[in-house]
Amino acid sequence: MNAMRAVGRPRPAVEHMPAYRPGKAAAQAEAEHGITNAIKLASNENPLPPIDSIVAAVTAAAFGANRYADHRATAVRERLSSWLDVGVEHITVGSGSVGLLQQLFLTYVDPGDEVVYPWRSFEVYPVYTQLMAGVGVATPLNADHAFDLAAVAAAVTDRTKLVLLATPNNPTGTALSTTDVATLLDGISPATIVVIDEAYREFLDPSFGDPVSELVPRYRNVVVTRTFSKAQGMAGIRVGYAIGDPDVIASIDKTLFPFAVSALAQAAAIAAIDAEAEIGERVANILSERARVIAELGNAGWKLPDAQANFVYLPIGERADDIYLGLEQRGVVTRPFPNEGIRVTISTPEENNRFLDTLAEVMASS
Ligand SMILES: Cc1ncc(COP(=O)(O)O)c(C=O)c1O
Repeated sequence: MNAMRAVGRPRPAVEHMPAYRPGKAAAQAEAEHGITNAIKLASNENPLPPIDSIVAAVTAAAFGANRYADHRATAVRERLSSWLDVGVEHITVGSGSVGLLQQLFLTYVDPGDEVVYPWRSFEVYPVYTQLMAGVGVATPLNADHAFDLAAVAAAVTDRTKLVLLATPNNPTGTALSTTDVATLLDGISPATIVVIDEAYREFLDPSFGDPVSELVPRYRNVVVTRTFSKAQGMAGIRVGYAIGDPDVIASIDKTLFPFAVSALAQAAAIAAIDAEAEIGERVANILSERARVIAELGNAGWKLPDAQANFVYLPIGERADDIYLGLEQRGVVTRPFPNEGIRVTISTPEENNRFLDTLAEVMASS
């Protein structure tokens, strides 16, 4: 009887909201297909565990975990401030950059407000828009699978509260130059917040520019979000940061749920900044593997969008589902976008070779 009765009354926005879809775990693919030795190239994670000094910092912090963390993450903000050469009042820290993105939605989007983002892009943008009962306005990508900023500019109205620009973009990997973003910003009212989501910043060619030094000082409505999840290999620790105008930072700070960034995460973030050179070497390895994978795919006849992050995107349209499944049945778990393409994380040389060989096998058999 009880089981038949509805429990609670979720807000309509939540009831109709799609759940966030994380990348499939290797163990799940193994169970589904009755295989062993599956590898996960589905979530743009770093293939290596965090470096020793990060693990040591987390371990040391665990001894004090009976206490609540510093809610404001003061030490991390100060360390970020000197590292980025930006005033500490311009910086905040959140529970991953998705946490900060959610805070931006909580701060700026009321029911009916518009949120503009090129699409396809990061999957949380429409999910968060729906959570707030906002109105998502998706603009098309261009023929190179990159953002069409003229289309973005045309979509922004006085009802637009947020514009979300992932650069490099997930899943296509293409990036925006700060010059092009500045042109867009010149035409946008300061009443609209423009979020530059740089989760993959460390993998980006520096010639695209740095929005923290070039755009934040010029445009008060720009917020840059970054993370320790990817280059620093801390996806499971959850810490990200945002840089913007002090008024914007103070507003979004109000929406951080208490103690959202654990003491372990704060200690890890500081250790990661301290280990910039060591982490830079790991990033360089991923970049050289990215170049090798792209070259090998090119030799096999693939035409890919410009890849500026730690993944490649195969825009194979309606064959995406079949090829994804063929890879997964052979133990290579990638991220499918049905009827559009497949995103594949760059990993260690061994795992990248496994992907390349398996893809060749799947293509030959399909
Ligand atoms: C574009 C983009 N932004 C943000 C994130 C989230 O990163 P974090 O682990 O910092 O929440 C991701 C993760 O995949 C991403 O692709």
